[in-house]
Amino acid sequence: MKRKLKIGVLFGGRSAEHEVSLVSATSVINALDKKKYDVVPIGITLDGRWISSSDTLEVLKSRKKINQQPQKILLPDPNLQGIVEIFSKINSKENIDVVLPVLHGTFGEDGTVQGLLELANIPYVGAGVLASSVAMDKIVARRLYKAAGIPVIPDIWFLWKEFQVNKKYFLSQVASELGFPCFVKPANMGSSVGITKAHNSSELEGAVVLAANYDRKILVEKAVPNAREIEVSLLGNDNPIVSVPGEIISSNEFYDYDAKYVDGKSTSEIPANIPKRIADKIKEYALRGYKAIDCSGMARADFLVGRDSNKIYLNELNTIPGFTSISMYPKLLEASGIPYPKLLDMLIKVAIERFEEKSKLKTAYRPKKDWYKN
Ligand SMILES: Nc1ncnc2c1ncn2[C@@H]1O[C@H](COP(=O)(O)OP(=O)(O)O)[C@@H](O)[C@H]1O
Ligand SMILES: [Mg+2]
Repeated sequence: MKRKLKIGVLFGGRSAEHEVSLVSATSVINALDKKKYDVVPIGITLDGRWISSSDTLEVLKSRKKINQQPQKILLPDPNLQGIVEIFSKINSKENIDVVLPVLHGTFGEDGTVQGLLELANIPYVGAGVLASSVAMDKIVARRLYKAAGIPVIPDIWFLWKEFQVNKKYFLSQVASELGFPCFVKPANMGSSVGITKAHNSSELEGAVVLAANYDRKILVEKAVPNAREIEVSLLGNDNPIVSVPGEIISSNEFYDYDAKYVDGKSTSEIPANIPKRIADKIKEYALRGYKAIDCSGMARADFLVGRDSNKIYLNELNTIPGFTSISMYPKLLEASGIPYPKLLDMLIKVAIERFEEKSKLKTAYRPKKDWYKN
């Protein structure tokens, strides 16, 4: 006999739609085929406690005896994959006032860790869930920047699955609409991992196969000819500070993984040697992009600027940029009058401000009648 799947049904929550969720979960639990599934009801109380037992739905609906329920948690450790009970005795506990996530890429910069911290109600440095995940997805982010009137690089995107079925179509679409060379990227990645500059159709095909190792969505972009890499740092919530622009001078044909970290030959110039008009435009687009994705805390906005044309394109916003004391993010702010230790103070301060502003919002709604109990 096949093992029954254990379905954890999560309901309730710190939300004004807590009650609606309880009613939805009742329907879902009733409808799940018990011959195929074991249901594990997991309730989140209005104040964010996690509880789980066979009568959790009833407990949440009646709002009685919630505090007598053993406390459960879903741990972020992927080796556990389940909910665990916290016994009344906790071995040790260290209170945390603010978390400073210094993680790059997936499961760190992409909203997942931010989501966990939101659930835990702990203030954290940097962008929230939405901006983190949007900025991580080059395809979605581009579309928002474009809608905000910011110039972006012409691109085409497709699913790896679609490409496998319609390879000829996509190869000819790229050749006719974007031409060569072009850049092929996994939609969600960083540090130039999985990125190829393709100079012709056969390189393009290989590049798509490589990018597909990292994402199901592939982005292909026109190459900006003779691109200069100009970056600015942003710091703050609704009215962020924008640093002076700096330029990265890559040691390779483009700023790939080796040029970023390995060969140590890439250099930077701060402030960038660009006309004031271009610098002002870059700052304006950076601010607009920050707002377009509802960013907060910090970000480094990376631009590509045509050396001859002076055309500016917003390439991406990094919500957790490199953070060593010689990284571009702190160096640009340092050049703008904010030394590294002060930068950390400011990041923590704006994290607390954002948390406090959000804490004032209502997360519960008391309906006129307890309609959901039936
Ligand atoms: N359309 C493009 N035209 C020219 N150079 C590009 C283009 N896209 C990417 N690059 C080069 O590739 C590098 C990495 O691409 P990017 O989109 O920034 O990915 P990552 O998120 O991995 O940093 C850029 O810093 C730049 O050197
Ligand atoms: Mg980049």
